[in-house]
Amino acid sequence: MHRRQPLALLVLLALFAAACTRTDETTTTTAAATASPAATTTTSSPGTSMFSTDAIDATAGTTGIGDEYYPTLGNGGYDVAHYDLDLTYIPETNELSASVDIEATATQNLTAFNLDFSGFEISDLTLNGVPADYERVGRELTITAAVPLLAGEEFTVTVAYAGNPGAVGSPAFSRVSMGWREGPEGEQYVVAEPDAANSWFPANDHPLDKATFHYEVTVPEGWAVGSNGEFLGTEPDHEGGGGITFAWEMDESMAPYLATVIIGEGYQLVTDPGSSEVAGIPIRNFLPPDLVDRAPDVLFETGEMVAALEESFGPYPFDRYGITVVGDFPAALENQTMSIFGRGVAGSPFFEFVLVHELAHQWYGNSVSVEQWKDIWLNEGFATYAELLWIEHQSGHAVYEEAVANRRQAASAANYPLPGEPPPTDLFNGGVYQLGGLLLADLREEIGDDSFFDLLRIHAGENRNGNATTQGFIDLAETVSGQELQEFFDSRLYS
Ligand code: TRP
Ligand code: ZN
Repeated sequence: MHRRQPLALLVLLALFAAACTRTDETTTTTAAATASPAATTTTSSPGTSMFSTDAIDATAGTTGIGDEYYPTLGNGGYDVAHYDLDLTYIPETNELSASVDIEATATQNLTAFNLDFSGFEISDLTLNGVPADYERVGRELTITAAVPLLAGEEFTVTVAYAGNPGAVGSPAFSRVSMGWREGPEGEQYVVAEPDAANSWFPANDHPLDKATFHYEVTVPEGWAVGSNGEFLGTEPDHEGGGGITFAWEMDESMAPYLATVIIGEGYQLVTDPGSSEVAGIPIRNFLPPDLVDRAPDVLFETGEMVAALEESFGPYPFDRYGITVVGDFPAALENQTMSIFGRGVAGSPFFEFVLVHELAHQWYGNSVSVEQWKDIWLNEGFATYAELLWIEHQSGHAVYEEAVANRRQAASAANYPLPGEPPPTDLFNGGVYQLGGLLLADLREEIGDDSFFDLLRIHAGENRNGNATTQGFIDLAETVSGQELQEFFDSRLYS
């Protein structure tokens, strides 16, 4: 098995590189495609430039929650608790009509506030049930409160909209299409990291504002809908349109970019009893018809993967897990409790390692989210290191060391940029993954197994359902190990 591993690494990187250079799809350039090294000095700070009583136009598009790399992503001044998405999708015409309720709390007095939202036609927008004035500039949706919202006040925004969902570009990649995509069998699916949640629903689109989600998605008879969390069941189309409504619920907080729907003809939600038993939580996969009875063998190792990673990372942070497989998607993404894989990845010999990788993101990335996109190595380095832990779990420590040595060699030949400050236009570059992962291999050697695994578990436990920073992780590493490590980290992350 381990001999397959270096190959797996290369193929995965090649695939992801391919995903990042697809040119055969229309990409909509979004207003926030302004990220550049220059964007790393933002003048907006959370909560201060969020609204203005007299010049809403002037603030629209320039406010933000304070992301250094993508300053227009996310908004300050309020905190979303819950999104309720009511969608109707007609595959034949690619029409989406939606009504989204957003429950939030003002964190300062507000006369206006922004959501991130691009595309679609808004037919109706209410604030606390009363029609509200709004304006759209780029992907900033500015809503005016006729009666100012007071700090601490809870409010609900409802946005009704319709249009044709589709793929969008991202400032984080030179050329990649994400958002709402379509596969060759007509399957529809959302992949939105880091900034495409706002391309299908209005959101405070930044991992700093996590929230719970409820979905009701109506599709024609014969089609099925997968999403995050718990499948609550189906009902005949509550709008009486002859379709069928699928209800899903994510009751643990989630960054908007991890929200997803998968809409496929004949897709089925299949529970894996063996994996569920081993993992101690339901493992359910949302599979296309041809894979329902013919899923790749390694998929049935998901339960063992959960158990193995729990030994290193601590308890699995959510109450269920599973994956879905779609066509025309040359990559994988860790959507919360429902990771998504392209058919090419799922049919490849390295599927096993990508499965472990996306599973590891449930701890590092999803439960513990980045506070700044710049710190993305906290997601990708950790998930990449989990691949090595799986090798160790399967084949023992000597084989693990061999794999680490191979990766060190491959990484030094590749001459990657350091992972601590990735280019904002190439956020998911090989250095973030490989050098980020190898940093953890080095750290384990530096502080020893006991401190290292304590550190991983404490980091996951203390930041559960929250956000983490690189500096916070460094400080914790010093505390747990009793060693001075700033220089160790600085040299591997920054210089
Ligand atoms: N986080 C993904 C991974 O597991 C990579 C990724 C980031 C991605 N953005 C994406 C994949 C958008 C597909 C689409 O490595
Ligand atoms: Zn990843």
